[in-house]
Amino acid sequence: MRDEPAGLRHRLLLALAAAILVGVGGVIGIAANSGTKTKTVTVGGTARAESAAVDPHVAAGAHDFVQFACARCHGQQGRGGVSAAVPALSTAAKELTPAELRSIINHGLGESSNPKQPYMPVWGAVISKTQVNDLVAYLRAGLPAVPTAVEPAVPKKQGAAVEGSVLYQAYGCVNCHGPNGLGGVPNPQSADKTIPPLSGQDFRKEFNTDAKIIAVIRSGSVIGKAPIVSMPHWGGIIPDDQLRALVAYIKTLK
Ligand code: HEC
Ligand code: HEC
Repeated sequence: MRDEPAGLRHRLLLALAAAILVGVGGVIGIAANSGTKTKTVTVGGTARAESAAVDPHVAAGAHDFVQFACARCHGQQGRGGVSAAVPALSTAAKELTPAELRSIINHGLGESSNPKQPYMPVWGAVISKTQVNDLVAYLRAGLPAVPTAVEPAVPKKQGAAVEGSVLYQAYGCVNCHGPNGLGGVPNPQSADKTIPPLSGQDFRKEFNTDAKIIAVIRSGSVIGKAPIVSMPHWGGIIPDDQLRALVAYIKTLK
């Protein structure tokens, strides 16, 4: 294909200018005289793309929703369907006020005193105000699909420890127990002042069998009321094969 003749390009430019002048947005297809060549000119594309783009707070909230494992309990885009004990979020997003939503995220909700089923974890000590506000913006926007706000793919056939290392991110364990299970994340109102490591001698001594590690992940361990951060109850949320993968990963840590 050859370049268009200069005359045609000139006419295209005029048409473009005219379109802008009359305020016509959108996509204009201009067919060349020969009928064999079609040139598509986008007018006002930038402005449109910007107005169609997701609000930055909503986008950040969608990413936080993945990072803090909200989707692992409440389902993709909060649609539910993971466990009967965890509600979908579409109704709450419409009916609860921003202040109520912020309070639930910071202070948790439900039967944490003697958890036989999942409860809404306390996040206050590990989540920032900005992150909470972004999550609220995302919830109130109706939990829209946001490109790239997706969980990391869990690798299969590379061994349980590799799978577990990705699950450690996907279930948000890393937010509380730190990278590489090093612990040290502040939990100022708790007796230890920090969230414990999943590595090191003390941990290995107390959790010296796979069964003990699996039991505490399943049941959780409530060490106090909000603002104290407790170990969430993951029974009914994390399937057995993934529990074993998490243990395999934890056992690779220092
Ligand atoms: C370990 C599972 C789990 C995780 C992770 C989790 N939630 Fe929840 N969430 C629950 C459960 C269970 C409830 C219901 C508590 C109750 O009412 O007894 C709940 C309730 C809620 C409610 C109130 C819903 C209603 O209809 O009243 C909101 C809002 C909410 N969660 C938001 C979030 C957000 C945002 C995140 C991520 C920061 C999150 N949840 C992470 C388990 C979880
Ligand atoms: C909201 C923060 C939070 C999240 C998320 C969290 N934990 Fe915990 N976890 C804790 C706290 C706090 C304790 C300490 C409980 C105690 O002292 O009884 C704990 C304890 C544990 C323990 C026992 C260690 C000990 O010394 O008591 C294991 C094992 C563990 N968590 C694994 C996990 C795994 C695996 C995940 C992800 C599936 C996870 N945790 C997610 C806060 C969290």
